[in-house]
Amino acid sequence: MKSYIPVPRVEGTASRQAHCDLPEGTYEREMSKEGFFGPAAFFHHRHPPTGWSDFTGPLRPRALDLNRLPSATTSPWAAPAVLTNAHCAIRYWRLPQNMEHLARNADGDDLMFVHAGTARLLCDFGHLEIVAGDYIVLPRGTMWRLETPGVFEALLIEATNAGYHLPEKGLVGHQAIFDPAMLDTPKVDAVFLAQQSDTRSWSVEVKKRGAVSRITYPFNPLDAVGWHGDLSVVRINVQDIRPLMSHRYHLPPSAHTTFLAGRFVVCTFVPRPFETDPGALKVPFFHNNDDYDEVIFYHAGDFFSRDNIHPGMLTFHPGGFTHGPHPKALTRMFTQTKPATDEYAVMIDTRDPLDVTEQGAAVEWPEYVDSWKPGK
Ligand SMILES: [Fe+2]
Repeated sequence: MKSYIPVPRVEGTASRQAHCDLPEGTYEREMSKEGFFGPAAFFHHRHPPTGWSDFTGPLRPRALDLNRLPSATTSPWAAPAVLTNAHCAIRYWRLPQNMEHLARNADGDDLMFVHAGTARLLCDFGHLEIVAGDYIVLPRGTMWRLETPGVFEALLIEATNAGYHLPEKGLVGHQAIFDPAMLDTPKVDAVFLAQQSDTRSWSVEVKKRGAVSRITYPFNPLDAVGWHGDLSVVRINVQDIRPLMSHRYHLPPSAHTTFLAGRFVVCTFVPRPFETDPGALKVPFFHNNDDYDEVIFYHAGDFFSRDNIHPGMLTFHPGGFTHGPHPKALTRMFTQTKPATDEYAVMIDTRDPLDVTEQGAAVEWPEYVDSWKPGK
């Protein structure tokens, strides 16, 4: 048995309620264990903790513009990985036309987040039409392919040697955020059965330990006439997510957790009203993410007024330094001019450090580290 050393204290001039009623003219910084779940301290600083005049070294925050990644490919396994570790791989895939082969990931479950376009998913479990804003969980071992009218871009988040789960909803119950009944699954329908008449030889590109093997059949292997069980591809769209919020308390990002994998979580930011209590913080709080590396992919909208951050970009904050709102957002710390946020973003927080790949570094916007300077 182990427990953290309990030291609930209030020192000096301090608020007793996190994220609320800060001493006049101060900036709150949270330092915590276990992400936002463990013991935490809240400091009231005279200066914003992101007010650095210079920041060098590998810990610097990075921004990658995935729109600038090189040409499209019909194989998800050829899509460039931008961030990786032993438990997670994040790829960005632009599919210009129908896939020529079936794909099968033997390394782990894949979570596909559709950033742009539409596609027809045909897989072991049947047929599903997918659109921008969809999350699709592809359990490890699923054979699948996509047909697209020509525009399709997606983030592929691999839970290497692990699978995806839903988070415990705790006090708010299973039906909160999204009801499990909202999860769509593929159908063995007329479209699926019709594609079975395509009886030419098909290959399956199987990825295992990062290497691709190709298994060729003299027939179409998506030939199941039915299936039963309690495992399937599932889909939920960001429009189906009903976020938790409190008018009197800025909830931590963990309140927006959508999926759990073995060593990382995926959270979704969707539009929600700003807090209205005069003393409640109305922007994300400064915090040290010492336990996690933090990745945000910007899908749509205006993400807390971050200049130069556009849809299709991804930011990476390695665990170990304090980050928080940009100066422009900070001017609205307690008074927002709009009634609600209007951003859609996918956050991936990993318990283990991520590496930026060469392909990721090639599309970096290097001035990101300076974007917290006043006037930027
Ligand atoms: Fe953070």
